[in-house]
Amino acid sequence: MKLLEFLQKSGCEANLARLMGEIIPRTVVKISDAIGKQGGELAGSENVYGEKQLALDVQANEIVVDELKKSGLVERLASEELEEAVAVKSSGQFTVVFDPLDGSSLVDVNFAVGSIFGVYPGGNPIGKTGDDQVAAAFAVYGPHTTLVITTKKGTHEFRLADNEEFYLTRENLRVAEDSKHFAPGNLRAAAEREDYLKLVNEWIKNGLTLRYSGGMVPDLNHIFLKGNGIFTYPGYSKAPDGKLRLLFECNPMALLMEQAGGASSDGKTRILAKKITELHQRTPIYIGSKKTVEQIENYLS
Ligand code: AHG
Ligand code: MN
Ligand code: MN
Repeated sequence: MKLLEFLQKSGCEANLARLMGEIIPRTVVKISDAIGKQGGELAGSENVYGEKQLALDVQANEIVVDELKKSGLVERLASEELEEAVAVKSSGQFTVVFDPLDGSSLVDVNFAVGSIFGVYPGGNPIGKTGDDQVAAAFAVYGPHTTLVITTKKGTHEFRLADNEEFYLTRENLRVAEDSKHFAPGNLRAAAEREDYLKLVNEWIKNGLTLRYSGGMVPDLNHIFLKGNGIFTYPGYSKAPDGKLRLLFECNPMALLMEQAGGASSDGKTRILAKKITELHQRTPIYIGSKKTVEQIENYLS
């Protein structure tokens, strides 16, 4: 079944169905094409985090901005690659937030990369929480281009076909309560944090299988598709809140994860319950199988 048809049949509100079933998929097709034509060349600029931008980061960002502006559905947009939010149309219905290219440092080595999208009703997301999102999605640019989507009616996977349409490949992805796989991000933190070192050692002792690519999108996609696992990215002295961004990366992933039966936390608080205070706010994150996330909350000091 085609993505748009799936959303319409599931009773998704018409404009949201168009945004998630037509506009965002179109940006993903275009970004996928751009990735196929380019390597990891630098753009010569830096983003608000002081990270060097790839030409592809800039291009992917422009693709999403253009399509969202043309859609007529969007009141405001905010991107990991833009310092400020952009006011698009006062009568627009949604604010779309996105990481146009996640895993930029993996482009030159031809690893899978992705895009991440979150959708809020109305205008400014500041002061809201991730629970306010009405939809979220990520795209994986791997051997196949796939989209994993939620409109708060479960989490589903679609695959891009030759005709530039996405077709349902996995309906209602479910993430089991216990993890058999672990994806420990920012292991640098284990050099100074005894608690994180112990946690990772527990997983090694318990025979969990390591699956870590260095890209949040493929690493979480693994958990969604295998149906269990844990991804972590804690803070440490050099970056007390870690690296990953609440609005652009963690909230969309947290919504998709909860809709698949999993959980996510910053170590104390559910990611989706955290108040958004700044566009570029960072947060530690522990996300995946529910019981493992609970164990982490009890374990971390
Ligand atoms: P981005 O390319 O959008 O800046 O994000 C990359 C992120 C994420 O995909 C990954 O989990 C994390 O960076 C890995 O970071 P480090 O290898 O720097 O710890
Ligand atoms: Mn990212
Ligand atoms: Mn990015």
